Amino acid sequence: DLKSREIVEKVNTNRDYDYYTDSMSTDMAKGNLVLTNKYYYLDSSYQPTNLVGINSNYGTGQIKKEVYEAYLTMINAAKDEQFNFYARSNYRSYTKQLSIYNNYVKQDGQAITDTYSARPGYSEHQTGLAMDIVTKTSNFETFVNTKECGWLIANAYQYGFILRYPEDKIDITGYKYEPWHYRYVGVEVAAKIHETNLTFDEYYAYYLK
Ligand code: DAL
Ligand code: ZN
Repeated sequence: DLKSREIVEKVNTNRDYDYYTDSMSTDMAKGNLVLTNKYYYLDSSYQPTNLVGINSNYGTGQIKKEVYEAYLTMINAAKDEQFNFYARSNYRSYTKQLSIYNNYVKQDGQAITDTYSARPGYSEHQTGLAMDIVTKTSNFETFVNTKECGWLIANAYQYGFILRYPEDKIDITGYKYEPWHYRYVGVEVAAKIHETNLTFDEYYAYYLK
């Protein structure tokens, strides 16, 4: 019953294949625009360069330096609003993702886990370009109700970040809504993605592949 436009869109973003069945090693030459999703994976040995520690006032763990600088610029721009952004999960190694994913599988089973957690090698967190941003006083469940959440949705693109798993794009991204998961792609691409309302998966298929 699909319209031809929808078929073309599905084929372009690989969704004519089941998740994780025919996956490909992702093109690392894309730099900050590297794609990971349920079709493109990172080598298990991949570790990003230039990781820096996050100041404990603003989050925890490590992230790529360029992303950290953009994050600091962004939260500084919002400081007049008395926001208290806090990045709770940032760079994760392959091994860390493996242990997180396996724990969720034990708890929820694989089918449910796959709706919200990436398999090891398939997580954007392994790139060092993704941050899970909430606030000091909220968690992954309550962040969606904060004013900070709305501010990020409206403004993050100006600092090079995109909301990677939007509420209305679950069939494209393959993941449940994650109001906290922001992916750094740089200001130019973030502005284009914000303006066109595409997912990164579609933007990659149309403009970067
Ligand atoms: N929760 C996101 C999809 C991840 O595990 O990378
Ligand atoms: Zn995340």
